[in-house]
Amino acid sequence: MTTRGRSGLAESLEPCRPMPPDKPNILKALLAVQSALGHVPTSAISQIARVLGVSDAQVSGVLSYYSDLRIQSAGRHLIRVCMGESCMANHGGRVLRTIQDHLRVSVGDHEPERRFTLEQMSCAGNCAVSPTVMVDEDLHGKVTPSDVPSLLEPYR
Ligand code: FES
Repeated sequence: MTTRGRSGLAESLEPCRPMPPDKPNILKALLAVQSALGHVPTSAISQIARVLGVSDAQVSGVLSYYSDLRIQSAGRHLIRVCMGESCMANHGGRVLRTIQDHLRVSVGDHEPERRFTLEQMSCAGNCAVSPTVMVDEDLHGKVTPSDVPSLLEPYR
């Protein structure tokens, strides 16, 4: 098979193929697939397991354990609302609910237009100006529910 004929999945897994005496690194492989495809399709679990020489259950276990791994493709922009202690004490939950209502999207899901995917995150290290919302790589602090529309507008 030529390199041109390989799928993005196969190419992303190639560097993850364990070389004895190394043990397979399932997380590294799943992150490589997500980086190549934008998510880890559950239909690829068997292929990933075969390449790594592990069971489907081991791959599924790692995939379900790490919240940074996505089984659905994300929207163009990833919104992460901090659920850490400081943010929750400063009404981060209200900010999250406002974003859900504003975009009509649930946590872990994206809008039909795939502009935004909404996720929760643990402490973003921005506690001094909590509550915190990250949009892609941009940190926003002291976010109030009334800030939500203007905060998201530049990303539309
Ligand atoms: S708890 Fe949210 S930034 Fe630390």
